[in-house]
Amino acid sequence: MAINKQEHAQWSSSFGFVLAAVGSAVGLGNIWKFPYMVGESGGSAFVIAYLFCIALVGFPILVAEWLIGRRGQKNPVNTFADVAASEGKSRSWGIIGASGILGGFLILSFYSVIGGWALNYITKAGTGSFIGQDSDSIAATFDAMLASAGTLTIWHTVFMAITALIVGIGVTKGIETTAKVLMPLLGVILFVIVGYNVINGGFGEAVAYLFTPDLSKLTGDVMLAALGHAFFTLSIGMGIMIAYGSYLGREVNLLKTARTVVILDTVIALAAGLAIFPIIFSNGLDPASGPGLIFVSLPIAFGSMGAGTIIGTLFFLLITFAAITSSISLLEPTVEFLEERTPMSRTVSTIVASTVIWLLGVAALLSFN
Ligand code: ALA
Repeated sequence: MAINKQEHAQWSSSFGFVLAAVGSAVGLGNIWKFPYMVGESGGSAFVIAYLFCIALVGFPILVAEWLIGRRGQKNPVNTFADVAASEGKSRSWGIIGASGILGGFLILSFYSVIGGWALNYITKAGTGSFIGQDSDSIAATFDAMLASAGTLTIWHTVFMAITALIVGIGVTKGIETTAKVLMPLLGVILFVIVGYNVINGGFGEAVAYLFTPDLSKLTGDVMLAALGHAFFTLSIGMGIMIAYGSYLGREVNLLKTARTVVILDTVIALAAGLAIFPIIFSNGLDPASGPGLIFVSLPIAFGSMGAGTIIGTLFFLLITFAAITSSISLLEPTVEFLEERTPMSRTVSTIVASTVIWLLGVAALLSFN
């Protein structure tokens, strides 16, 4: 099928592209999922498996997705179809691009619900609602949020609206500018929280927990979980990096850029571990408490530690910033596809895609209650 629009956006600079790609990679996967998977999958065994998968599988696929995207210069479906056709192969390869777009589309419906939790928790931490609360009442606060379809819907709506607004503004002015603002802020907040932990205890225990090799826990299941996480955290297999590659010029060195993205993504995931586990250990909490680790265990600690309101607010801002720079990348492939394949403008494509994703998210959040 023909492409409707002639204009195709380009990143304004390689630096802008690196920040947008790191912004996409660093998300809930690094700050919410990675720490609880480390906790659930036996600490350092998961970290070792994850580093192995990132280096040997994630890195080459990331480069390949950018290469294909840059060669096609279109949305993932047309890119795959055109690149295959130019090599004398079937245009049906476009299905691979479509499956990526669908993947990102479905992930975002759930991602936005969790992003909404983080937004909600900024207000809770910022207003001091964890101060003086015991573990039961903090767990009850989390359960009450999950039980309230209204609360979940409001925050999911706010999160999706922010995502749509940024994507609707455009690739350079929206996505790239947001990454340029939020990624440095994210780095500063992470640095402050890790610094606080170095001074306030539990740090040595967290380092040992994350980095002392214990190969006895390295099972097939742990390897598989690490492989899945490598795809998720590098935003590969979801059409994102193909779409981002389509906005790339020839001058960008893809190997060097991929190295930077992989290193920063990994360093930030490990730093997130050093932001979370010292607080967990110094407050005698369980590191293996699953998805509730940062929404239940950490608030218990924020409620009882000095500077808990500030550190807690910063922490939930950190997750929200990471989630937004990823959610915009999850929306982009669908918007690029609609914009190029239908008569709809970018604004209308964004509104249509976000509304459908928002509706799917509402269905997902209803499953909590
Ligand atoms: N790469 C994004 C994340 O880790 C999707 O959250």
